[in-house]
Amino acid sequence: MIFVNFKLYHQAWGERAVALAQICQRVSQKTKVPVIPLVAGFDLWRVKKEVGGPVWAQHGDLYFHGPHTGWQSPALAAATGAAGILLNHSEHPLPPGRIRQILAYLRRERWREKWAQELGKETAAKIKKLQVMVAFRTKGQVRRWLARLDPPPDFVAYEPRELIGSGRAVTEVQPAMIRRIRQLVPASWPLLVGAGIKTAADSQRARELGAAGILVSSAVVLSFQPEKVLLDLAAPWR
Ligand code: G3P
Repeated sequence: MIFVNFKLYHQAWGERAVALAQICQRVSQKTKVPVIPLVAGFDLWRVKKEVGGPVWAQHGDLYFHGPHTGWQSPALAAATGAAGILLNHSEHPLPPGRIRQILAYLRRERWREKWAQELGKETAAKIKKLQVMVAFRTKGQVRRWLARLDPPPDFVAYEPRELIGSGRAVTEVQPAMIRRIRQLVPASWPLLVGAGIKTAADSQRARELGAAGILVSSAVVLSFQPEKVLLDLAAPWR
């Protein structure tokens, strides 16, 4: 699977977010490889409404509803139609305790009952289905934090910050590290890798190294031919 992080690149705002999400959807349909846009908060509703399909939010905070100004509510993301949220991207880090609390709010039975009472059954059901990916930027983080992620996330991602947007693919620069991280993460947890990925060869290498998919941003969002780039990136996963 391929996650396309739109970040706050202005090339993927508003109408252009819709156009890029349509491209993701087209590539998904053509290749049968899930290509999932991670859109900025203000565009989530619009992309979901105009494009449909799975759309993810780039971040989520601890506050779900009520008197909390300016936070990104995972509950509102779910109610808006997000299929998932990314937590702890290196451009938006969270303390480990916060990640654990968000996962508990989303997964633990007692919180589910609370959301059903406060927000209604329909929204509570959407919150229950909201998927979570937790990103790590170092092996040390994976080692220290992983065991404490209980309940577990649906996906784990590894993205070394120094390679993000560098054009130097993590799969080329750090293959041994990816293998080690794959061993640290429980086998049943899908591992995504990202940072600097741009070609079919990078994508192929990610697969060979045991990743379940890739996270990509600049190579797609800043490209004049995003569909072509995505078709190339998807080819090894068909
Ligand atoms: O979340 C994906 C992102 O951080 C990777 O960025 O530009 O190196 O593909 P980029």
